[in-house]
Amino acid sequence: MIAFDKEQRVIVTGASSGIGEGIALLLNKLGASVIGIGRSRERLEAMKAKCARPENAFLELKDLTDDIGGLPEYVKSLKEKYGKFHGLALCAGIAALKPLQLLPLEETKRRFDINYFSPLFLAKGFADRRVNNGKGSSIVAISSAAAARGDKGMAAYAGSKAALSASMKSTSRELAVGGVRVNVLSPSDIKTPMTMNEDLTDLRKDREALYPLGFGEVEDVACFAAYLLSDRAKWLTSQNYTVDCGCGVI
Ligand SMILES: NC(=O)c1ccc[n+]([C@@H]2O[C@H](COP(=O)([O-])OP(=O)(O)OC[C@H]3O[C@@H](n4cnc5c(N)ncnc54)[C@H](OP(=O)(O)O)[C@@H]3O)[C@@H](O)[C@H]2O)c1
Repeated sequence: MIAFDKEQRVIVTGASSGIGEGIALLLNKLGASVIGIGRSRERLEAMKAKCARPENAFLELKDLTDDIGGLPEYVKSLKEKYGKFHGLALCAGIAALKPLQLLPLEETKRRFDINYFSPLFLAKGFADRRVNNGKGSSIVAISSAAAARGDKGMAAYAGSKAALSASMKSTSRELAVGGVRVNVLSPSDIKTPMTMNEDLTDLRKDREALYPLGFGEVEDVACFAAYLLSDRAKWLTSQNYTVDCGCGVI
Protein backbone atom coordinates (compact mmCIF):
# COMPACT_ATOMS: atom_id res chain seq x y z
CA MET A 1 0.00 0.00 0.00
CA ILE A 2 1.38 3.39 -1.00
CA ALA A 3 0.39 6.16 1.39
CA PHE A 4 1.51 9.65 2.28
CA ASP A 5 0.60 12.02 5.07
CA LYS A 6 -0.25 15.66 4.67
CA GLU A 7 3.11 16.73 6.08
CA GLN A 8 4.65 15.09 3.03
CA ARG A 9 4.49 18.03 0.64
CA VAL A 10 5.17 17.44 -3.04
CA ILE A 11 5.69 20.12 -5.67
CA VAL A 12 4.19 19.06 -9.01
CA THR A 13 4.97 21.13 -12.11
CA GLY A 14 2.56 20.88 -15.04
CA ALA A 15 -0.21 20.14 -12.53
CA SER A 16 -2.78 21.90 -14.73
CA SER A 17 -2.88 19.22 -17.44
CA GLY A 18 -2.18 15.67 -18.52
CA ILE A 19 0.48 13.68 -16.69
CA GLY A 20 1.24 16.37 -14.09
CA GLU A 21 -2.44 16.71 -13.27
CA GLY A 22 -2.75 12.93 -12.96
CA ILE A 23 0.23 12.77 -10.60
CA ALA A 24 -1.09 15.67 -8.49
CA LEU A 25 -4.54 14.07 -8.17
CA LEU A 26 -3.14 10.65 -7.23
CA LEU A 27 -0.68 12.02 -4.65
CA ASN A 28 -3.47 14.09 -3.12
CA LYS A 29 -5.75 11.04 -2.99
CA LEU A 30 -2.98 9.03 -1.30
CA GLY A 31 -2.70 11.66 1.44
CA ALA A 32 0.13 13.98 0.36
CA SER A 33 -0.13 17.75 0.26
CA VAL A 34 0.37 18.91 -3.30
CA ILE A 35 1.69 22.25 -4.48
CA GLY A 36 0.62 22.34 -8.13
CA ILE A 37 2.39 24.72 -10.50
CA GLY A 38 1.07 25.82 -13.89
CA ARG A 39 0.40 28.88 -16.03
CA SER A 40 -3.36 28.57 -16.35
CA ARG A 41 -5.35 29.54 -13.26
CA GLU A 42 -8.48 28.04 -14.79
CA ARG A 43 -6.89 24.65 -15.43
CA LEU A 44 -5.18 24.59 -12.03
CA GLU A 45 -8.47 25.33 -10.31
CA ALA A 46 -10.16 22.61 -12.36
CA MET A 47 -7.49 20.18 -11.11
CA LYS A 48 -8.10 21.24 -7.50
CA ALA A 49 -11.84 20.79 -7.96
CA LYS A 50 -11.17 17.13 -8.86
CA CYS A 51 -8.98 16.53 -5.77
CA ALA A 52 -10.09 13.95 -3.21
CA ARG A 53 -8.69 16.23 -0.45
CA PRO A 54 -8.87 19.78 -1.84
CA GLU A 55 -7.79 21.18 1.54
CA ASN A 56 -4.38 19.60 0.85
CA ALA A 57 -4.02 21.04 -2.66
CA PHE A 58 -2.29 24.39 -3.20
CA LEU A 59 -1.93 26.23 -6.47
CA GLU A 60 0.95 28.34 -7.75
CA LEU A 61 0.64 30.29 -10.99
CA LYS A 62 4.02 30.52 -12.66
CA ASP A 63 5.60 30.49 -16.09
CA LEU A 64 8.66 28.38 -15.39
CA THR A 65 10.61 29.93 -18.26
CA ASP A 66 10.29 33.56 -17.11
CA ASP A 67 13.35 33.61 -14.83
CA ILE A 68 15.05 30.24 -14.95
CA GLY A 69 18.12 31.41 -13.03
CA GLY A 70 15.79 32.51 -10.22
CA LEU A 71 14.05 29.13 -9.89
CA PRO A 72 16.18 27.88 -6.95
CA GLU A 73 15.15 31.00 -4.99
CA TYR A 74 11.55 30.46 -6.09
CA VAL A 75 11.62 26.93 -4.63
CA LYS A 76 13.06 28.34 -1.40
CA SER A 77 10.23 30.90 -1.30
CA LEU A 78 7.73 28.04 -1.61
CA LYS A 79 9.44 26.33 1.33
CA GLU A 80 8.98 29.52 3.41
CA LYS A 81 5.30 29.51 2.47
CA TYR A 82 4.47 25.80 2.89
CA GLY A 83 7.31 24.13 4.85
CA LYS A 84 9.95 21.62 3.82
CA PHE A 85 9.24 19.35 0.88
CA HIS A 86 9.14 15.58 0.59
CA GLY A 87 9.02 15.46 -3.18
CA LEU A 88 9.37 17.20 -6.52
CA ALA A 89 7.59 15.89 -9.62
CA LEU A 90 8.92 17.61 -12.74
CA CYS A 91 6.21 17.25 -15.37
CA ALA A 92 5.87 20.61 -17.18
CA GLY A 93 7.01 20.34 -20.76
CA ILE A 94 6.19 21.01 -24.38
CA ALA A 95 6.52 18.89 -27.48
CA ALA A 96 6.07 19.57 -31.18
CA LEU A 97 6.96 17.58 -34.22
CA LYS A 98 9.32 19.49 -36.48
CA PRO A 99 11.74 18.10 -39.05
CA LEU A 100 15.29 19.36 -38.69
CA GLN A 101 15.14 21.42 -41.89
CA LEU A 102 12.21 23.41 -40.49
CA LEU A 103 13.63 23.87 -37.01
CA PRO A 104 14.48 27.47 -36.00
CA LEU A 105 17.11 28.01 -33.30
CA GLU A 106 14.81 30.10 -31.09
CA GLU A 107 12.14 27.41 -31.05
CA THR A 108 14.75 24.80 -30.16
CA LYS A 109 15.94 26.96 -27.28
CA ARG A 110 12.36 27.40 -26.04
CA ARG A 111 11.99 23.61 -25.85
CA PHE A 112 15.19 23.39 -23.84
CA ASP A 113 14.04 26.19 -21.52
CA ILE A 114 10.95 24.36 -20.31
CA ASN A 115 12.01 20.72 -20.86
CA TYR A 116 15.59 20.97 -19.59
CA PHE A 117 16.76 24.19 -17.91
CA SER A 118 13.65 24.80 -15.83
CA PRO A 119 13.49 21.29 -14.26
CA LEU A 120 17.24 21.36 -13.67
CA PHE A 121 17.07 24.65 -11.75
CA LEU A 122 13.96 23.59 -9.83
CA ALA A 123 15.91 20.48 -8.81
CA LYS A 124 18.77 22.75 -7.74
CA GLY A 125 16.39 24.61 -5.40
CA PHE A 126 14.93 21.36 -4.04
CA ALA A 127 18.41 19.93 -3.46
CA ASP A 128 19.14 22.56 -0.81
CA ARG A 129 19.12 20.78 2.58
CA ARG A 130 17.06 23.63 4.03
CA VAL A 131 14.32 22.93 1.47
CA ASN A 132 13.85 19.14 1.41
CA ASN A 133 13.13 16.68 4.22
CA GLY A 134 16.46 14.88 3.83
CA LYS A 135 16.40 11.07 3.86
CA GLY A 136 13.35 9.79 2.02
CA SER A 137 12.88 12.91 -0.10
CA SER A 138 12.60 12.25 -3.79
CA ILE A 139 12.60 13.81 -7.23
CA VAL A 140 10.81 12.27 -10.22
CA ALA A 141 11.41 13.85 -13.62
CA ILE A 142 9.22 13.06 -16.62
CA SER A 143 11.50 12.61 -19.60
CA SER A 144 10.38 10.72 -22.72
CA ALA A 145 10.98 7.45 -24.52
CA ALA A 146 11.67 9.68 -27.53
CA ALA A 147 14.98 10.65 -25.91
CA ALA A 148 16.43 7.20 -26.55
CA ARG A 149 14.29 6.11 -29.50
CA GLY A 150 15.00 9.01 -31.81
CA ASP A 151 11.55 9.37 -33.43
CA LYS A 152 11.56 11.38 -36.66
CA GLY A 153 10.79 15.08 -36.28
CA MET A 154 11.80 15.15 -32.63
CA ALA A 155 15.40 16.32 -32.78
CA ALA A 156 14.78 19.29 -30.44
CA TYR A 157 12.32 17.55 -28.11
CA ALA A 158 14.34 14.33 -27.89
CA GLY A 159 17.51 16.32 -27.29
CA SER A 160 15.95 18.31 -24.46
CA LYS A 161 14.65 15.14 -22.81
CA ALA A 162 17.93 13.25 -23.26
CA ALA A 163 19.69 16.16 -21.57
CA LEU A 164 17.17 16.05 -18.72
CA SER A 165 17.63 12.30 -18.21
CA ALA A 166 21.42 12.64 -18.20
CA SER A 167 21.43 15.55 -15.75
CA MET A 168 19.02 13.78 -13.38
CA LYS A 169 21.35 10.77 -13.28
CA SER A 170 24.25 13.00 -12.34
CA THR A 171 22.07 14.82 -9.80
CA SER A 172 21.06 11.50 -8.23
CA ARG A 173 24.69 10.74 -7.43
CA GLU A 174 25.17 14.14 -5.80
CA LEU A 175 22.01 13.92 -3.70
CA ALA A 176 22.35 10.30 -2.55
CA VAL A 177 24.69 11.39 0.25
CA GLY A 178 21.79 13.35 1.79
CA GLY A 179 19.37 10.44 1.30
CA VAL A 180 17.48 12.20 -1.51
CA ARG A 181 16.46 9.89 -4.36
CA VAL A 182 16.23 10.99 -8.00
CA ASN A 183 14.56 8.94 -10.75
CA VAL A 184 13.34 9.50 -14.28
CA LEU A 185 10.25 8.15 -16.03
CA SER A 186 10.41 7.95 -19.82
CA PRO A 187 6.92 7.34 -21.20
CA SER A 188 5.94 6.58 -24.78
CA ASP A 189 2.74 8.18 -26.11
CA ILE A 190 0.23 8.82 -23.34
CA LYS A 191 -3.27 10.15 -24.00
CA THR A 192 -3.09 13.77 -22.83
CA PRO A 193 -3.88 17.16 -24.43
CA MET A 194 -0.28 17.07 -25.77
CA THR A 195 -0.93 14.00 -27.93
CA MET A 196 -4.70 14.10 -28.43
CA ASN A 197 -5.05 17.49 -30.14
CA GLU A 198 -6.97 17.52 -33.40
CA ASP A 199 -4.00 18.53 -35.57
CA LEU A 200 -2.39 15.18 -34.83
CA THR A 201 -5.39 12.95 -35.64
CA ASP A 202 -3.91 11.35 -38.79
CA LEU A 203 -0.44 10.98 -37.35
CA ARG A 204 -1.90 9.53 -34.17
CA LYS A 205 -3.66 6.71 -36.04
CA ASP A 206 -0.38 5.71 -37.72
CA ARG A 207 1.56 5.88 -34.46
CA GLU A 208 -0.99 4.08 -32.34
CA ALA A 209 -0.97 1.15 -34.79
CA LEU A 210 2.64 0.55 -33.71
CA TYR A 211 1.65 0.28 -30.05
CA PRO A 212 0.81 -3.35 -29.15
CA LEU A 213 -1.46 -2.19 -26.29
CA GLY A 214 -2.42 1.21 -27.75
CA PHE A 215 -1.41 4.56 -26.26
CA GLY A 216 -0.96 4.73 -22.50
CA GLU A 217 -3.22 6.45 -19.97
CA VAL A 218 -2.16 9.16 -17.53
CA GLU A 219 -2.69 6.66 -14.69
CA ASP A 220 0.01 4.39 -16.16
CA VAL A 221 2.58 7.10 -15.45
CA ALA A 222 0.97 8.54 -12.30
CA CYS A 223 0.99 5.20 -10.41
CA PHE A 224 4.68 4.72 -11.18
CA ALA A 225 5.51 8.30 -10.14
CA ALA A 226 3.56 7.96 -6.86
CA TYR A 227 5.43 4.74 -6.08
CA LEU A 228 8.82 6.35 -6.79
CA LEU A 229 7.93 9.33 -4.58
CA SER A 230 6.80 7.06 -1.76
CA ASP A 231 8.86 5.43 0.98
CA ARG A 232 8.10 2.06 -0.66
CA ALA A 233 10.73 2.94 -3.27
CA LYS A 234 13.35 3.70 -0.60
CA TRP A 235 16.11 1.77 -2.37
CA LEU A 236 15.49 3.13 -5.85
CA THR A 237 17.53 5.99 -7.17
CA SER A 238 19.47 6.98 -10.28
CA GLN A 239 17.13 4.97 -12.54
CA ASN A 240 15.44 5.83 -15.81
CA TYR A 241 12.33 3.67 -16.28
CA THR A 242 10.67 3.37 -19.67
CA VAL A 243 6.87 3.44 -19.38
CA ASP A 244 5.83 1.70 -22.55
CA CYS A 245 4.17 -1.35 -24.12
CA GLY A 246 6.93 -2.39 -26.50
CA CYS A 247 6.27 0.01 -29.35
CA GLY A 248 8.89 0.70 -31.99
CA VAL A 249 7.97 4.12 -33.38
CA ILE A 250 10.65 5.84 -35.39
N1 LIG B 1 1.85 12.81 -23.40
C1 LIG B 1 2.85 12.06 -23.83
O1 LIG B 1 2.70 11.21 -24.71
C2 LIG B 1 4.20 12.20 -23.22
C3 LIG B 1 5.16 11.19 -23.48
C4 LIG B 1 6.41 11.30 -22.92
C5 LIG B 1 6.73 12.37 -22.12
N2 LIG B 1 5.79 13.34 -21.88
C6 LIG B 1 6.17 14.46 -21.02
O2 LIG B 1 5.28 14.50 -19.93
C7 LIG B 1 5.16 15.86 -19.48
C8 LIG B 1 3.68 16.22 -19.40
O3 LIG B 1 3.14 16.12 -20.72
P1 LIG B 1 1.59 16.07 -20.99
O4 LIG B 1 1.37 15.12 -22.08
O5 LIG B 1 0.87 15.88 -19.70
O6 LIG B 1 1.37 17.53 -21.59
P2 LIG B 1 0.21 18.62 -21.40
O7 LIG B 1 -1.09 17.96 -21.09
O8 LIG B 1 0.33 19.49 -22.59
O9 LIG B 1 0.66 19.41 -20.09
C9 LIG B 1 1.83 20.22 -20.11
C10 LIG B 1 1.93 20.92 -18.79
O10 LIG B 1 3.13 21.69 -18.79
C11 LIG B 1 2.83 23.00 -18.34
N3 LIG B 1 3.73 23.98 -18.94
C12 LIG B 1 4.11 24.07 -20.24
N4 LIG B 1 4.91 25.14 -20.42
C13 LIG B 1 5.03 25.73 -19.19
C14 LIG B 1 5.72 26.88 -18.72
N5 LIG B 1 6.44 27.66 -19.53
N6 LIG B 1 5.62 27.18 -17.41
C15 LIG B 1 4.89 26.42 -16.56
N7 LIG B 1 4.22 25.32 -16.95
C16 LIG B 1 4.28 24.99 -18.25
C17 LIG B 1 1.40 23.24 -18.77
O11 LIG B 1 0.86 24.28 -17.98
P3 LIG B 1 -0.40 25.19 -18.48
O12 LIG B 1 -1.53 24.21 -18.73
O13 LIG B 1 -0.72 26.02 -17.32
O14 LIG B 1 0.05 25.89 -19.70
C18 LIG B 1 0.78 21.88 -18.52
O15 LIG B 1 0.40 21.76 -17.16
C19 LIG B 1 5.94 16.71 -20.46
O16 LIG B 1 7.21 16.98 -19.92
C20 LIG B 1 6.07 15.82 -21.68
O17 LIG B 1 7.21 16.12 -22.43
C21 LIG B 1 4.54 13.28 -22.41
